[in-house]
Amino acid sequence: MLYALELSGEHDYLPVMEAYACMEIAGLEFKEHEILDQCLVVDINGTWNDIEPRLLYVAQRLAMSHHIIRVAGMCDTSANSILQMAENIDYLKHIDHGKTFVVRARKIKHYCDLDREFIEGHVGGRIFRQGFRANLKTPDVKFRLIIGEKCIFGPVVASVDRSAYEKRLPHKKPFFYPGVLMPRVARALVNITGVKENEILFDPFCGTAGILVEGAIIRAKVIGIEVRPMITSGARMNLQAFGVDHNVITGDACMVPLKDGCVDAIVTDPPYGRSAAIKAESLHHLYDGSFREMYRLLRNEKLAVVVSEIDVSVFAKDAGFKIICEYSQRVHRSLTRRITLLQKKSRD
Ligand SMILES: C[S@@+](CC[C@H](N)C(=O)[O-])C[C@H]1O[C@@H](n2cnc3c(N)ncnc32)[C@H](O)[C@@H]1O
Repeated sequence: MLYALELSGEHDYLPVMEAYACMEIAGLEFKEHEILDQCLVVDINGTWNDIEPRLLYVAQRLAMSHHIIRVAGMCDTSANSILQMAENIDYLKHIDHGKTFVVRARKIKHYCDLDREFIEGHVGGRIFRQGFRANLKTPDVKFRLIIGEKCIFGPVVASVDRSAYEKRLPHKKPFFYPGVLMPRVARALVNITGVKENEILFDPFCGTAGILVEGAIIRAKVIGIEVRPMITSGARMNLQAFGVDHNVITGDACMVPLKDGCVDAIVTDPPYGRSAAIKAESLHHLYDGSFREMYRLLRNEKLAVVVSEIDVSVFAKDAGFKIICEYSQRVHRSLTRRITLLQKKSRD
């Protein structure tokens, strides 16, 4: 069954990686059908009834997508092809008799110069002529046209509540301290580790708990370390504000009071020595010591994501990690973030 994930344009690769990770967490068997600009089309094994409840869960976890669409048709982006495709669809498969619909189009960048309202109206007309009533405000079924490199069309089966992330912006939390990842980035990184409900997510430089809050909301058990007691209490306040269980310890990321192999996933943004304070002999000592601790604490085969300004590959390799991939994300003119995905491969 073909489904399309309408991705946000926040990053070239993170939305795709996040989508794959969330589908795996939801237990879906799938293969990539096509990656288009801001749209991922996947072929998922199973029936609509098996797949779609799981896609609802996927949408609850995702941060860097907008909607998930059951693909009813795909074509090139000329008006003729889109209207022809819309004409040939049997809408009774997608909308029950007597139910109402709306058609919404999203144009991705400038791949074509079609007028959005024109195409929404004319595709809606095709559905109307098959006997369904339009309802622009409270439709039973929302059809979506994603018009980018290709046109993808179908009913929306799940949507990401992007506004929930806006409500958790750092300055809206009870305790704010500069240098925090935005909630959508934090959630996407948590998702990329593949951490599941009740598994342990660890952040050895937890600061104000931006990453831990996102982990706790998806029901991971979260543990954080922070060296400055004032920030540790702020992290606890932020976690309490969301009513989630947590364990935040004041301590040093280079000497963590936890047993070997006790965490299932790590997401962290260590201090860069610029905006956030370093509590260590040097940045080198801090990275060297903390990467060794992360390796020790992570279960075998599990994943860690580290956000940094500097290249961390030497520290990661020295600690024993396998580097899965590294991406850059330009934050502003003088800050490019590196996102490094690491896997623990046991040395024995
Ligand atoms: C970039 S900030 C992390 C921000 C965090 N993700 C948040 O949501 O607020 C890095 C944090 O590491 C802390 N830190 C510095 N040295 C440390 C050490 N040796 N052990 C643990 N935390 C340390 C800093 O106090 C700072 O809060």
